[in-house]
Parts: sequence; structure tokens; C-alpha cells
Amino acid sequence: MSVAGAVRKTARKVTNALTPAVYAEGDMDILTKLKQEHREVQALLEELVDSASAAQSKATLRKIKAALVPHARAEEKIVYDPLRKLKDKDVNQDGEEGYLEHALADKVLLTLSRTSNAGSPEFKAAAKVLRELLNHHIREEESAIWSDVKNNFSDEQRHDMNRRFEAAKKKVKIPQ
Ligand SMILES: [Fe+2]
Ligand SMILES: [Fe+2]
Repeated sequence: MSVAGAVRKTARKVTNALTPAVYAEGDMDILTKLKQEHREVQALLEELVDSASAAQSKATLRKIKAALVPHARAEEKIVYDPLRKLKDKDVNQDGEEGYLEHALADKVLLTLSRTSNAGSPEFKAAAKVLRELLNHHIREEESAIWSDVKNNFSDEQRHDMNRRFEAAKKKVKIPQ
């Protein structure tokens, strides 16, 4: 490699090393954040369905509520609402579908919370329904909603959405 080439390569390395410093810690594309949180909830749902005792089920349910409810409310505000405002029928419909599926998940969460015996067939059935519903929802979200977001919002806007998503989550009250 020529001296000039080596200098260019080093300069590029330095630039690449410095680039992440421009972003504050935790600053990322909202889609990256949503994906992390989806995987976290999916792991908890497996834990809920497979839990060996009623006490473990109750503890896992609490973790699911703490992770899922702020995620869903902030997602509605920061992702779905802007999509519903765009003048595109298909995109609007994706947003509506997301809202509906969140409402269904809320309903099953409520059933789980109100079922005092976490070892009962009712609880186990609701846990499985919640897992199936959310796995379906997440799959659709990560395809339809995400392409809507990528098609309509720039990289910079998606970083800004993530900041607002984090702030919105903090304001959400987790139900008992
Ligand atoms: Fe989501
Ligand atoms: Fe969602």
C-alpha cells in the first residue's frame, strides 16, 4: 500500500472510531430499540407458558406487564399515531391494526391479572393465547409497520422517535 493509501485508511479508521461518540449512550434507531424489547417480551412469554409454579407465573406476569405496557402505549403514541396521520390508506390501516391487537393483548393481560390461581387451566390457557397473539403481532409489526416507518421517516427522525419513545414510556402507569 502506498503511503497516501495508508494515511487514507488510518484516517477512515479514526473517523469510524469517532463516529459513535456523536451519539449519546442509548441513542439509536427506534426500530432497533423496538426489536430489543420484542425479544425481551417474547422470552418472558416463553417463561410464562413454561413456568413450573404458580408463584413463578405471577412473578413472570409482573415482568411482562412492566415491559409490555409502557412499550405498547409509547409505540401507539410515537409510531402508530404518526402513521395514522399520513395520507396513505394502507399505512393508516397498519396503524389501526396495531391498535386493535394492543387492545386485545390488554384484555388478555387483564384476564391473567384477575385469575387468582396462576396454576389453573384458565391461567395457562390465557398465557398461551397471549403468547400466540403477541408472536403474531410482533411478526406483523416487524414487517408491515417497520417498512412503513422506513418509507416515511429518515434515519435522523427515527433516532428522534427513539428519544421520544423512551420519554413516553416513563410516563406510563403499569396496571396491577
Ligand atoms: Fe412493538
Ligand atoms: Fe406493538
